[in-house]
Amino acid sequence: MTPRPPALLATDLDGTLVGDPVALALLNAELAARRDSLRLVYVTGRSLPSTLALIETEGLLVPDVIVADVGSHVYDGPDWTIDVRWHQRMSRNWSPSRVRAVASFFPELTRQPPDCQSAFKCSYFLDAAVAPWVLPALDDALRWHRVNARVIYSSGRDLDFVPTGSGKGNAVRHVAARLGVPMSGVVTCGDSGNDREMLALGCPAAVVANHQPELLPMPSAIYRARGAYAAGVREALRHYGHL
Ligand code: GLC
Ligand code: MG
Repeated sequence: MTPRPPALLATDLDGTLVGDPVALALLNAELAARRDSLRLVYVTGRSLPSTLALIETEGLLVPDVIVADVGSHVYDGPDWTIDVRWHQRMSRNWSPSRVRAVASFFPELTRQPPDCQSAFKCSYFLDAAVAPWVLPALDDALRWHRVNARVIYSSGRDLDFVPTGSGKGNAVRHVAARLGVPMSGVVTCGDSGNDREMLALGCPAAVVANHQPELLPMPSAIYRARGAYAAGVREALRHYGHL
C-alpha cells in the first residue's frame, strides 16, 4: 500500500471535539489507527494546564502539539516544551499593562478569573447585547493608543486580547509549516468566534452542527457538518478523504 501523504487535524476542543463522549470514543478509535500519517493538533482558548486536565478527564488522545491561549502559546508533545520561536514572536512589543489600561476605559468589560489570564492573553467577559458597538470601539481604542493587541470575541461572552500576530489561524499555519504538512493537507474544525481565523485559512475547514450563530455568515468553502461535536469532526475528516 502506498503511504498516505502527511495530513494534520487542527481542532478546537470545547464545543468541537468535546461535548459528546460517545461520538468522541468512536472518533478516537479511528484517529488512533491513523496516527502514523495524521498529525493531531489541539487549538484552544484554554491554558496548557487546563488543556492537559481536559485531555485527562475527557479521555482525549494525546496530540502532537497543543496551541493554547487562542494561538498565543505553542507546546510540543510529549513533554509540552514551549515553542521558543513562537514565544519570542509573541513577546515582541506585548504589554499587558497597556492592554488592561485600554480595557479599563470600557465598563462593559469584566475580567475573567486569574486562572484564565496568561502571559500573552488578557481575558474579559462582554455581554453579547452590547458587543456590536463595544467591539469596534475597542479596535479604535487599541489603534489610537498604538497598543499591539487584537480582540477576539467568542461564544457571545468571552473576549480575549492577544498580540496582533497571534490567533488560532496564524498559529496553525506556523505549526503546519514546522511539521512539514502542506496547508492542503490540514483540516481545521471549530464552533465559535475564536476559530473563525483558522477556518478561513483557505485550507480544508469545517464547522460542527452545534456551532455558535456568531460564525454566520460563513464562506461557502467551509464544510458544514450535519453531526455535532466529535461526530462533526469525524464527518469532516471523511468529507476531506482523511478517514
Ligand atoms: C477559554 C479560556 C477563556 C477564553 C475562551 C475563549 O474558555 O479559558 O479565557 O476567553 O476560551 O477564547
Ligand atoms: Mg470552542
